[in-house]
Amino acid sequence: MKVISKRKFEGDMLFYFGYGKQMPKEFAEFKQDAKSFEGKSGESYSAPVKNKGYSRIAFVSLGDKKEFEPDFLRRAAGTAVRISKSMRKNKIGFSVPHINDATKLLTEGAILADYKFVKLKSKSEEKQIDTLTLVSASDLSKQINTGRILAESQNYMRELNELPANLMTPRKVAEEAVKLGKKYKSLSVKVYDERALKKMKMDTLLSVSKGSTEPPRFVVIEYKGAKKPFYCLMGKGITFDSGGISLKPSKNMHEMKYDKSGAMAVLGAMRAIAELKLPLRVMAAMALTENMPSGSAQKPGDIWKSHNGKTVEVLNTDAEGRLVMADSLSYLAEKKPDGIIDMATLTGAVIIALGKHAIGLFSNDDKLAQTIEKAGNNAHERVWRLPLWKDYSEMMKSDVADLKNVSNTGEAGSITAAVFLKEFVDDVKWAHLDIAGFMNITNAHPYLDKGASGAGVRLLTETFILFSEKKK
Ligand code: BES
Ligand code: ZN
Ligand code: ZN
Repeated sequence: MKVISKRKFEGDMLFYFGYGKQMPKEFAEFKQDAKSFEGKSGESYSAPVKNKGYSRIAFVSLGDKKEFEPDFLRRAAGTAVRISKSMRKNKIGFSVPHINDATKLLTEGAILADYKFVKLKSKSEEKQIDTLTLVSASDLSKQINTGRILAESQNYMRELNELPANLMTPRKVAEEAVKLGKKYKSLSVKVYDERALKKMKMDTLLSVSKGSTEPPRFVVIEYKGAKKPFYCLMGKGITFDSGGISLKPSKNMHEMKYDKSGAMAVLGAMRAIAELKLPLRVMAAMALTENMPSGSAQKPGDIWKSHNGKTVEVLNTDAEGRLVMADSLSYLAEKKPDGIIDMATLTGAVIIALGKHAIGLFSNDDKLAQTIEKAGNNAHERVWRLPLWKDYSEMMKSDVADLKNVSNTGEAGSITAAVFLKEFVDDVKWAHLDIAGFMNITNAHPYLDKGASGAGVRLLTETFILFSEKKK
């Protein structure tokens, strides 16, 4: 979908957006016909018109003004795109309402709603929207560009994350990162294989890959848009999490192809940062491996020494995310950045705590946490902070090693996972985002189709936009 800015619309169908049931003057002649229109958020009305540069107009309500949230604009744009597709209209226009950030939000909603994963269908009826014209007296190109980059980077992640474990192996993900580095000159990509990882003393990462015939990869992507500020990103990239010897139940196990979501979000965010040319430095790491049971797999009770020298007793091989992240985080902490943000589908427990409406946030720094909270609201990928008190750290002490990878009781599962990670960042400012509830969409959504959600890309990018603004 192309998105352009124009004063006047010519095409198939023009959409208007507004609060409640108050349709603009263009709909005056249809008053009688639209009698039953209630003006609920997302409700739409459309009618044919003559002697215009287009054949149909439509109104999508944003609902009651008092209850308005910015995300309603993304949803309304999504609704408009769905309507257009069902009517086979592929040159559409949006009359941009006078609401803060409307251009960016409408652009994001439209591009996200237009996307569908069709790559693995031999035949697809799916037709995408050709052009979306944002109609306004002023030039909107700049805001369109930001919205477009955010949404396209999210779609890029969705396309990769939807791919199953047989197609998207650790090696394949690394290849995708290399491809990205070739496309954006500002990104440099380094891929570390098993041998390199042994030399780097990344044994907790390697312990997870032992059960698999697919070799692991550790990928580092660097972006230098400025010398400072300097931030690190880290993503959990388990391309399939069977649980290992602590095998998961078979029901819904296929969803564990999405256990690479953290790494995919990091990849998507690096794409967005490069496109936006943000004035900062970012070093991003992805820890990529399968977690499989086999004769060579690690066993409950095994003890490994991590990159920072701490020893870890593996009591449950299904708590593998924290093992691959432990090495990765201490690798990044050595670089002494201004902050590290990690993203991971780390615990089922975060879904019990927050459902699918908030990402779990854990941080050792209030300012960093506040910036991410703000970015979460901007992206409508909202975060909720949970504590990292010492009492929880006590629960992760092992009798025979420095740490164990699960607590005895299983209580506060997301927090105990987070305090485990905290042991590997030294005194670097750090935030951990548990996105287990966000990896895929199971219920219909106005701008996101079922399947890989691509969540996290906009949250991370909005965070980096705030970091760059602070510098000025
Ligand atoms: N990848 C899972 C977490 C997960 C579960 C993500 C459901 C998305 C949906 C993680 O590796 C895992 O298995 N965690 C265990 C931890 C437990 C063994 C302490 C869990 O959540 O059950
Ligand atoms: Zn697991
Ligand atoms: Zn996992």
